Amino acid sequence: MDENNHIYPIFDRMLARRDKEELLKQRGVMVWFTGLSGSGKSTIAIALERELHKRGVLCRILDGDNIRSGINNNLGFTEADRVENIRRIAEVSKLFVDTGIVTIAAFISPNNDIREMAAGIIGHDDFLEIYVSTSLEECERRDVKGLYAKARKGEIKNFTGISAPFEAPARPALTLDTAVLSVEESVGKLLELVLPKIQKK
Ligand code: ADX
Repeated sequence: MDENNHIYPIFDRMLARRDKEELLKQRGVMVWFTGLSGSGKSTIAIALERELHKRGVLCRILDGDNIRSGINNNLGFTEADRVENIRRIAEVSKLFVDTGIVTIAAFISPNNDIREMAAGIIGHDDFLEIYVSTSLEECERRDVKGLYAKARKGEIKNFTGISAPFEAPARPALTLDTAVLSVEESVGKLLELVLPKIQKK
């Protein structure tokens, strides 16, 4: 019996996660990408969402485009701001996961403490840590946004991998090196990991 029944009449109770999961015929889970800038996190996240969507799975991507330009547009790249960035992202992600949605986050999230905080907010059982391990050399060689060149010249401070640290995760659920794997291969590995976790029995 629900403990809230003592306080609220049953018809006033907020629907629970399981009600949403029943409706969607899927389970909510957090797919959390971590890796350097330009490592391929967002590219893989977008491709993963497309493949899941094709299979009838409702997803939500959170990345710099929709978070750092909106809810977190007052934050920069000091350690304290990165912690606050990830804390808010984790709280928002939890709302999506609790709605039964497969939630996909693509942020550098540069150290174990920050990722541990996110996992703690979302819940360890729902948290899949995916390390996009593309090396600094490769990310810098690609320099898709031209930011590594600027960071080398000192035009951007606290740049991850150049003038700010990146700590690789100790036990990720999956490691993907985009210098070795194609996007399709990475998504294939992700589907093997994610699909069994989200299927409703
Ligand atoms: S995080 O460290 O707080 O997780 P987040 O993923 O939100 O970082 O943002 C990283 C993106 O912001 C990079 O891909 C890059 O485009 C941009 N950026 C701008 N300044 C920096 C910086 N100093 N360090 C890292 N990324 C930066």
